[in-house]
Amino acid sequence: NLLDIAQANDLEMEGELSQSRAPDIKLTSHPGACGGSCACSTCHVIVDDPDTFDKMEEPSDDENDMLDLAFGLTETSRLGCQVL
Ligand code: FES
Repeated sequence: NLLDIAQANDLEMEGELSQSRAPDIKLTSHPGACGGSCACSTCHVIVDDPDTFDKMEEPSDDENDMLDLAFGLTETSRLGCQVL
């Protein structure tokens, strides 16, 4: 998932992933507090490109519930650990 990619590449947790395989996605916080079990919202990401966002699978109810708790929620927010 996207969180794994970010961690595997030792990416800064804030700022754009412009050098990564996901140039349209920004991480907004220190992700991974719950280990990717959809229980913390610290892996919140904002997808800059609406076309990219539209191509993603729909978030689950659990993801939506956690997103509601995320700081700075946007129309194109996702949880990085839930994006495949
Ligand atoms: Fe906790 Fe994604 S790492 S919800």
